[in-house]
Amino acid sequence: MCGIFAYLNYNVSRERRYILEVLFNGLRRLEYRGYDSSGIALDADFPSCASSAPAPAYAGAPPLVFRQEGKIESLVRSVYSEVDEKDVNLDTAFNVHAAIAHTRWATHGVPAPRNSHPQSSGAGDEFLVVHNGIITNYEVLKETLIRHGFTFESDTDTEVIPKLAKFVFDKLHDEEGDVTFSQVVMEVMRQLEGAYALIFKSPHYPNELIACKRGSTLILGVNELSGQNSGKPFQDVKALTTNGKPKELFFSSDLCAIVEHTKNYLAIEDNEIVHIKDGSVSILKFDHDKEKPASVQRALSVLEMEVEQIKKGSYDHFMQKEIHEQPHSLTTTMRGRLKDSGVLLGGLKEHIKTIRRSRRVVFIGCGTSYNAALAARPFMEELTGIPVTMEVASDLLDRQGPIYREDTAVFVSQSGETADTLLALDYALENGALCVGITNTVGSTLSRRTHCGVHINAGCEIGVASTKAYTSQIVAMAMLALAVGSDQISTQARREAIISGLSSLPSNASEVLKLDADMKELASSLIDSESLLVFGRGYNYATALEGALKVKEVALMHSEGMLAGEMKHGPLALVDENLPIIVIATRDACFSKQQSVIQQLLSRKGRLIVMCSEGDASAVCPSGSCRVIEVPDVADCLQPVINIIPLQLLAYHLTVLRGFDVDQPRNLAKSLIQHWTDTAHSPVPGSRLMDGRRGELVLTDHGGEEVWNSIASGAPDSRVKINLVIYNFVSYVGGV
Ligand code: AGP
Repeated sequence: MCGIFAYLNYNVSRERRYILEVLFNGLRRLEYRGYDSSGIALDADFPSCASSAPAPAYAGAPPLVFRQEGKIESLVRSVYSEVDEKDVNLDTAFNVHAAIAHTRWATHGVPAPRNSHPQSSGAGDEFLVVHNGIITNYEVLKETLIRHGFTFESDTDTEVIPKLAKFVFDKLHDEEGDVTFSQVVMEVMRQLEGAYALIFKSPHYPNELIACKRGSTLILGVNELSGQNSGKPFQDVKALTTNGKPKELFFSSDLCAIVEHTKNYLAIEDNEIVHIKDGSVSILKFDHDKEKPASVQRALSVLEMEVEQIKKGSYDHFMQKEIHEQPHSLTTTMRGRLKDSGVLLGGLKEHIKTIRRSRRVVFIGCGTSYNAALAARPFMEELTGIPVTMEVASDLLDRQGPIYREDTAVFVSQSGETADTLLALDYALENGALCVGITNTVGSTLSRRTHCGVHINAGCEIGVASTKAYTSQIVAMAMLALAVGSDQISTQARREAIISGLSSLPSNASEVLKLDADMKELASSLIDSESLLVFGRGYNYATALEGALKVKEVALMHSEGMLAGEMKHGPLALVDENLPIIVIATRDACFSKQQSVIQQLLSRKGRLIVMCSEGDASAVCPSGSCRVIEVPDVADCLQPVINIIPLQLLAYHLTVLRGFDVDQPRNLAKSLIQHWTDTAHSPVPGSRLMDGRRGELVLTDHGGEEVWNSIASGAPDSRVKINLVIYNFVSYVGGV
């Protein structure tokens, strides 16, 4: 995953130094998405600083483009040193100025300046593009462009985009004279397949920016500097931007990078082209099959996120902050949704009956989100009586496993943007299943493409290791199970007990966080271990997998989560006095079986750390030879929410003590986007994505968009209203 960002100031004077800092700060906020290289583009002074360069094909100076390998701070250092070297004046003020930025996580080509973005159309940087996503047909486009005389400098899929833009621009220019920026971008979109969010900058169109997307998330932020829009929700983006008043406009891959500038934002929809010119924003809807695009009016939403959410505050790392935020995030997940008699999930209410009639529920996700679903499986089965099967998204796709019309497919994803999960979603949609989303990201692709769902409202999660989203996902799925099972009289008492257990989870989470110092001490005793096993079963098999995943991904220590019931079938051979083994043995129906596992491990001199319910130390380890972690006792099916917290703390402290990067672990970024080399067999060819979105232009009160009406309070979300106006747009050119 990459991060893209743009900043345009209009009718307000901004020095180049200020613009640079806005770009760097935007990139710092997006750095968690990818951090192996980065780049920016902004305007040069006129005449060009590089006066020895050949005269460009446009009036004005070629843009200043900086690209660097490594984390954002290495870009910052290199920009300031280059600026010094080239004598670029940082005090130059611009009343209007358009700048773009990118942080990269390599998919095509090694991290290197030439592979970093902005990617360029060639000499003179006539078109510059920053891109998040994958262009699946780039090889065909590249061959065609080479035949037309273009030369390529990078190994990226992205480079075809600015070159295609230049090709289209030249062709239109020759044929028709005047050509608008949006005409160029529209024709580029016509040729692209895959998933992308793009921002274009061009010296042919000074002080303009164009963004468009298909698949990847892209946000527009609007900051009216006259202050008259503050606090008023749902204002028409056009009305806000055509008034000539001073303003700042932002594009960003996510809300984290704009929240400190403005709370007024718009989640750009697939196939929309957002054009900023003369301080005004126009939105066109691209339709592959239509000659003329539609002009779209959109309403701004007000962001319900505080700046504090994206800052570390008094914590050393985001992962640490997010672990300690769990009492609060669990509260916000449940806010407005728990009632004495049941739960209210606004985003599901139209679909609950259909879910009840399902032949089975299929939980689908990757990594931590898969583990959260695994933790939810037992109570989903128990409360609903519907069989639940588990699918790792990539494995479902590899096998092309059976999904039926009678299935409810529940997709779990913190980001709502994980490629495997989205591909599995497309697959389930194609097979006619009812698709339910469980995500933390409002406006994400998952929330837009599923039929209905639940936002977990855990707040921005920035650490690559997912922590608070995991516990909130389990709670969201507990509420889902309660809602679906609410028609069953036989389980009423059990449901009431779970609802009461949910209400006290935040205070139990605060309690268990007091183990922080103990976990740090335990971590210090494990720093030199090569491996760590975690045994769990029943409700806590998922806890074992998730605890081990946390240790693996941030502490870079080999760790395996195992089903305790499988111990005798192989893993027992590993046991000796050196290998640390965590056994989860909190109170539930499997308790006596776990006691027996502990005895067997002790009789083989196992080095045991046992997690048990408060007051159970002697019951789990009568000999006193194990290290014991005592946790608060909660409703058995909710115990995984509490039990994972000490393991998150352990992974965190192990990472710090072993000297590794907590928030940006080696080789990992926050969400994964896959590279499909075989376009013909790509599960998401661009054409199908477009076909899938054709119904979007139908006018309804909700703009044809599924809105999960449960953003924070369970109250209906009336956020989206789209009015469609046919716009008489000039004709296009043919294909390349
Ligand atoms: C979690 O700590 C991991 N970084 C990873 O397993 C993650 O959960 C997985 O990539 C799925 O991400 P998602 O929840 O955003 O879909």
